[in-house]
Amino acid sequence: MSSVEIENVHKIFGTTHVIRDVSIDVPDGSFVVLVGPSGCGKSTLLRMIAGLEEISAGEIKIGARVINEVQPKHRNIAMVFQNYALYPHMTVAENMGFSLRLARHSKDEIATKVRDAAQILGLSNYLERFPRELSGGQRQRVAMGRAIVRDPEVFLFDEPLSNLDAKLRVQMRAELKEIHGRLKTTTIYVTHDQIEAMTMADKIVVMRDGVVEQLGDPLTLYDRPVNMFVAGFIGSPSINFVGGRIARTDGAAKFLSHSGVRWQVDPRVAEVAGGTPVTYGIRPEHFALATDGESGTLPAVVVTVEPTGAETHVVADIGEDRITAVLRERVSARPGEKIHLRPDPAQAHLFESESTLRIQPSGEAH
Ligand SMILES: Nc1ncnc2c1ncn2[C@@H]1O[C@H](COP(=O)(O)OP(=O)(O)OP(=O)(O)O)[C@@H](O)[C@H]1O
Ligand SMILES: [Mg+2]
Repeated sequence: MSSVEIENVHKIFGTTHVIRDVSIDVPDGSFVVLVGPSGCGKSTLLRMIAGLEEISAGEIKIGARVINEVQPKHRNIAMVFQNYALYPHMTVAENMGFSLRLARHSKDEIATKVRDAAQILGLSNYLERFPRELSGGQRQRVAMGRAIVRDPEVFLFDEPLSNLDAKLRVQMRAELKEIHGRLKTTTIYVTHDQIEAMTMADKIVVMRDGVVEQLGDPLTLYDRPVNMFVAGFIGSPSINFVGGRIARTDGAAKFLSHSGVRWQVDPRVAEVAGGTPVTYGIRPEHFALATDGESGTLPAVVVTVEPTGAETHVVADIGEDRITAVLRERVSARPGEKIHLRPDPAQAHLFESESTLRIQPSGEAH
């Protein structure tokens, strides 16, 4: 096992600068997840760590060793790709042991390593089967097995679960996390599924256009996103944004939306916000159903109601702003009806509309 240090790394393809000054510290044994929209540079960064792409500038270290010039096969890394094509004419055991055979390990040693990996992955009874005789999830585990037998210092995963159906993804992500708990191999995992990121990561790196927007543990990103991009990327359904400004009436500062609705805000944020245009952000789960006349409630006109069983997703218009609320209770309202929603001011964020940066409440710890 080893740490991975990515220091001021750049990647330039011809005239396109796709990775721009990225620095990420991946501690030994940790599970770091890279997320970001399509094309932001996640795979490119992984491929640079693996040695499949040259590093245009900056340094990548594995342990104490700078690996910029080290050949891929000497980096002691195992990578699992989205398209992990197994060899169809080889059994599970042969697929898993193939890289060891290429590296001329002894038959006994290969057999032992394959057996151990199969045990970890719950594949012991499938070693003599061919890939076509396996389910999608089992094939995915064979691909993992190929990586595990090599006993690498670092695992790199590039969207390894994206070919699986929703239920299997949930199961495999729990298994992967459990395997990481046992092997404790330093892992860098790419996904654009933010739920996967939230549930698996010790640390999440949110990227956009080749730049790291924020790096931190999942709940810090969720509770204190640095800007609107991170706030919008983490959390599902997404955070609601409402444009407006802070207005003071009778001594109390409130957020006044463009359509004239007054939303309560934490006075510690309002104090910092000043008179510039701001965007109010509130997550769907931070609305509660209220009755008319309670303080801090807002009238909302229902657009759709979606009961999921455990909770109810309500899309509604507050003034001219369309929001989504996730409510714990069942809601009988129909489209067009008026309900009252209470946003929790302690959970709301304010962002500077122009810079999109989150306004830190006075006194908030960094
Ligand atoms: N060989 C290449 N030559 C030129 N541009 C490339 C090359 N490989 C990737 N790019 C560009 O680099 C950017 C980052 O690509 P990359 O594959 O790293 O994105 P990604 O974050 O993995 O996206 P996705 O989620 O779709 O897999 C993209 O704009 C892509 O078009
Ligand atoms: Mg990719």
